[in-house]
Amino acid sequence: MMPLPLSMKLLMLFVSMLGMQGSGHSCELQPGGTNVARNGEAIQSSDYVYKPMGYANQSIDGNREGNYHQGSCTHTKKEKDPWWMLDLKNSYSIGPIVIVNRQDCCSERLNGAEVRVGNSPNNDNPVCGTVTSADSIITFCCNGMLGRYVSVVIPGASEILTLCEVEVYEEIAKLERHVCW
Ligand SMILES: *[C@@H]1O[C@H](CO)[C@@H](O)[C@H](O)[C@H]1NC(C)=O
Repeated sequence: MMPLPLSMKLLMLFVSMLGMQGSGHSCELQPGGTNVARNGEAIQSSDYVYKPMGYANQSIDGNREGNYHQGSCTHTKKEKDPWWMLDLKNSYSIGPIVIVNRQDCCSERLNGAEVRVGNSPNNDNPVCGTVTSADSIITFCCNGMLGRYVSVVIPGASEILTLCEVEVYEEIAKLERHVCW
């Protein structure tokens, strides 16, 4: 068999890379995709009573502001297993969930937080992902997990849960790509 010319090998490599992307689920934010969290209702395990108040609804206000003092982040008391829960009102096939962490301080507090998706209103749904960094913006790919509820829970004896935004997007199946040449 004749050895393939380099250009042909590169072309085959390119096509196989396209093929790897071409099936299954997509975790890309779709341009113009709807953040369904905006239509939901959020509650949390406790409210931190200090100005500005960190109400549960402040992470679904459409504002990614990460400075807590601008009044657009949630804040629980320091407590055991604090949680925040979003009721989407309908069950969705969930794709990307984007979490905006606090940025003026304390971003490490979110480390270890579990993002759970499902139909139980008790924060015990399957885990889509766990925060393992103190990054400002953390995206989880839920790959079509079905659920009406999205929870963020920090397991621990004495934790504080702050979220500056939680965006939830529906899963959109990616079309197979076909390569012509
Ligand atoms: C957010 O929740 C607080 C406390 O329940 C409430 O006073 C406020 O009006 C809510 N904000 C919006 C935009 O719904």
